[in-house]
Amino acid sequence: MDKGIVKLAPSILSADFAYLGKQVGEAEEAGADRIHVDVMDGHFVPNISIGAPIVQSLRKVTRLPLETHLMISDPDFFLDEFTEAGSGSFLVHWEGNNNLHRTVQRIKALGKRVGVVINPATPAAVLEEILQDVDQVLVMTVNPGFGHQRFIHTTLPKIRRVRQMIDEIKRDCDLEVDGGIDVTTAPLVVDAGANVLVAGSAIFGEGEGVIAAMNRLRAAAN
Ligand code: DX5
Ligand code: ZN
Repeated sequence: MDKGIVKLAPSILSADFAYLGKQVGEAEEAGADRIHVDVMDGHFVPNISIGAPIVQSLRKVTRLPLETHLMISDPDFFLDEFTEAGSGSFLVHWEGNNNLHRTVQRIKALGKRVGVVINPATPAAVLEEILQDVDQVLVMTVNPGFGHQRFIHTTLPKIRRVRQMIDEIKRDCDLEVDGGIDVTTAPLVVDAGANVLVAGSAIFGEGEGVIAAMNRLRAAAN
């Protein structure tokens, strides 16, 4: 299947957890590049979600990489547990991490892909010194913590700026966006330079089903 140039990372936060394996299977069939797993602790963000047991279960039912977005106060403490469960990559926030370089090096030492995440109010400039060490940058296009929020349009110039930085410093780095991505906003973020789109409600929250929703989103993105 031609996946197009833009990669899709369905976020299971909006999936129906009673049918999680089935829905992830549909996302795989529809050509998802990776599965995005949102981990929240009720401290770093005002919501709780899921932990390593879900990653462990998903590892058995899909061949896709499980990308683990850690919205938790102490990411270092949980890296081993998620690695054992089957996480293929980690997305860790710049915000609240006094030793981000150390966290990044730990993830690399575990043999996993690593991405740094910045929230809507965080400037692109904070990425300058860490960019050469990471495989991905994730620009949050909503404030983290909840699915189904409205896309924040003022993040678009920042996505362009990060694209410039990546082209100058580390060309093989993915530029991913997360939050409020749907058929309307996908073309905007792709035009700004994003090449990986996380989408939760636009994939798992549509009445038309996962496969049709992914096909529609991919067509809009490409
Ligand atoms: C928000 C999460 C997102 C969320 C996106 O904190 O990081 O991954 O699932 O959901 P939608 O696509 O509905 O905005
Ligand atoms: Zn996420």
